[in-house]
Amino acid sequence: MSEFVLQAEDVAIHYGGVKAVDGVSLTLGRGQIRGLIGPNGAGKSTVIDAITGRTRLTRGKVFLGGQDVSALGATERRMRGLSRSFQRTSIFGQMPVRKQVELAAYKMGVADSGADADAVLRELDLMPMAEVIAEDLGYGQQRRLDLALALVGRPSVLLLDEPMAGLSVKESHDLAKHLKALTSRWDVSVLLVEHDMDVVFGISDVVTVFELGRVIASGEPAGVRADPRVREAYLGSAA
Ligand SMILES: Nc1ncnc2c1ncn2[C@@H]1O[C@H](COP(=O)(O)OP(=O)(O)O)[C@@H](O)[C@H]1O
Ligand SMILES: [Mg+2]
Repeated sequence: MSEFVLQAEDVAIHYGGVKAVDGVSLTLGRGQIRGLIGPNGAGKSTVIDAITGRTRLTRGKVFLGGQDVSALGATERRMRGLSRSFQRTSIFGQMPVRKQVELAAYKMGVADSGADADAVLRELDLMPMAEVIAEDLGYGQQRRLDLALALVGRPSVLLLDEPMAGLSVKESHDLAKHLKALTSRWDVSVLLVEHDMDVVFGISDVVTVFELGRVIASGEPAGVRADPRVREAYLGSAA
């Protein structure tokens, strides 16, 4: 078995002449959180699309648990444990929270979808809202419901694209706490694209910095934060 749960190797996505992602390699160890940061347009969302199979690779390979999944579609990768959250909330706004999570588990082919839904809701402190219609949830709770839907079927990898966007400081820290707990309690590995630097540097085991579709720095948070190229990239985009 591979030492990495997820491995992207020389991944490239070109849109005509636009090299949105151009030769990116990164790994996720079991239970690891990798923060992915970079200025707008750096290719962060595109690399998530590439890894999940939503966008076709121009070049490179993606390995899940050591197996090459590059030729598989997004649904098949999800069935194999590669999950993401979308920023659109609740697919069925009129449905109660628990029903929705249970339906998602059922669609995943989970044997006991009710038990799986309950485990996810408990883990995310959503049990008190189990019977609330999704539309009636507060925004922060809706984001947690998004995460719940991504967690059915016990994925090994979770890719999150700015999950804290629009949340209050308290809600962000709350979500960060849940993510950290998931990595240790459920062995989930997380690739976290996030603007909030306090959150990224606070909870990531390793951080990767993108600029113009390429990795300009990668490693432990302290080293990355001190990297002159990183400072320059951020000062350059501060306006
Ligand atoms: N479907 C597409 N067609 C053409 N260009 C795209 C498409 N999607 C993204 N891009 C371009 O790829 C680059 C990276 O975009 P994106 O991955 O969304 O960046 P980030 O998430 O880091 O802000 C940008 O220049 C963007 O305009
Ligand atoms: Mg993006």
